[in-house]
Amino acid sequence: MAARGKKPNNQNARPPKPVANPDFERYCRQTFSPASTFAKPEVLKGYRVLSCTQYILGPSCATYLGELGAEVIKMELPRRGEPMRHSTPGNEGFLYPLSRWVPQSGTGLGFFGANFNEYFISMDFHRSEARELMYRLAAKADVMVENYRPGTFDRWGIGYRQLREINPRLIYVWLGGFGGWGPGRVRASYDILGQAQGGAFSITGQPEEFGGSPSKHTIWLADYWGGMMGALHALSALYWRDNVSGEGTFIEYSQVHGVSRQLEYALPLYGRQGVIRERWGNWDTELCVHGIIKCGKSSYPNSDNPQEQEEGYVLISAYEDEDFARLAKAIGQEKWVRLYKSHDARVSPESQREIYPALEAWAKDKTKEQVAQILDRAGIITQPVWNAKEVAGHPHWRERGSIRWLDDPTYGDVLSQGPAYKMSDTPPRVKWALKPIGADNELIYGKLCGLSAEELKRLEAEEII
Ligand SMILES: CC(C)(COP(=O)(O)OP(=O)(O)OC[C@H]1O[C@@H](n2cnc3c(N)ncnc32)[C@H](O)[C@@H]1OP(=O)(O)O)[C@@H](O)C(=O)NCCC(=O)NCCS
Repeated sequence: MAARGKKPNNQNARPPKPVANPDFERYCRQTFSPASTFAKPEVLKGYRVLSCTQYILGPSCATYLGELGAEVIKMELPRRGEPMRHSTPGNEGFLYPLSRWVPQSGTGLGFFGANFNEYFISMDFHRSEARELMYRLAAKADVMVENYRPGTFDRWGIGYRQLREINPRLIYVWLGGFGGWGPGRVRASYDILGQAQGGAFSITGQPEEFGGSPSKHTIWLADYWGGMMGALHALSALYWRDNVSGEGTFIEYSQVHGVSRQLEYALPLYGRQGVIRERWGNWDTELCVHGIIKCGKSSYPNSDNPQEQEEGYVLISAYEDEDFARLAKAIGQEKWVRLYKSHDARVSPESQREIYPALEAWAKDKTKEQVAQILDRAGIITQPVWNAKEVAGHPHWRERGSIRWLDDPTYGDVLSQGPAYKMSDTPPRVKWALKPIGADNELIYGKLCGLSAEELKRLEAEEII
């Protein structure tokens, strides 16, 4: 276990008790009401984004801009599309045809959530005629996002250096594994590699003494985080262009460095004290009690789902002296107040090895809800560990529009996550989930490149688009 950091500040660390303010709640409910979202304007309306992206890192960057109202045009390899359509389950043709040329296949669910609100066109970047079309599109675009290997677009003649000659106001966001230069650059990267090399996995997972090992996250955190960073920097560059310089910007993001950016104090701890932060599983190296414990009973013993039949887990946070004392009382361990008097006494690995098993022993005859109820009544921060079904069923998400049934024009009814943030006057929104490859060829190439129906037909037949 790593050396301990500073003691938590007693005055600030404890969350204030909620004070009812029904007037403010009413104000928020009305101001952010999901029911009025579609009657309000979109903040990025009028900006156009070309998204030459694959998997999650690049696509999520573009979709975040799309949720804010930018016109995002996703460009994919003709007929087959980008690999994410094929890399995850759920790609049965009857669910969602891949394209009008490949109707027997579908789009995998991994594509979902990373390509909202986009127009879908096809283009083979190898072909010279396609390159000409790219130049025409780039001339009318504000932002270009891509996440191929470094230099690939430059090699194809459609990278930043070429496109800025056509449109000096273009913001070009390249998201990659390691950046365009430096000793580690010439490798392929995925979210999992970013997290492995960036330092995240080494501090995630149970320690060896509990049979654990470094662990990966199930969700593609590094990709979605990287995409968000790309969107943030694109917006900054738009601000700079539109208010200061009149010029575009070349943005380069390294997924690996993006992970290191989130390592909190692991780097200063190492730099200053030579201590390497280690993994400590569901407990916490700096705070105790502040972790997840196993309860003895399942909340769903009759479920068809084996993981739901398992015993539940619950989060408990009671590291301040008063909270810890209340926890001790609630579970009949009053002696803990004497045994573990201070934060330092509680947080040591030896103490944690005693405290957490005792908590689990107390929770052995309870479900996660029962534990949470008892501790909640004692004024302790607690939360059962929820799965997708439990999240989806909770009215807090539904009322706020953060999860809703989307009536997608092609996909049909789909339970969908939406933006987590709200904006009073220009709210972000999800308009549609995704479309087949090339679904908007006519619309976009007609509108922006002036292509006739005959030209489109030929270009499609020759698989240039
Ligand atoms: C994802 C990744 C590993 C894929 O690697 P890759 O497919 O070997 O290499 P590139 O990304 O440079 O893609 C080039 C290939 O894409 C294919 N391609 C995809 N879309 C295409 C299109 N619209 N037109 C033409 N070729 C296309 C071609 O086959 C091309 O190969 P070529 O150079 O032989 O012609 C790599 O792009 C990468 O490391 N990206 C940065 C990190 C990242 O975003 N990872 C994914 C998120 S986890």
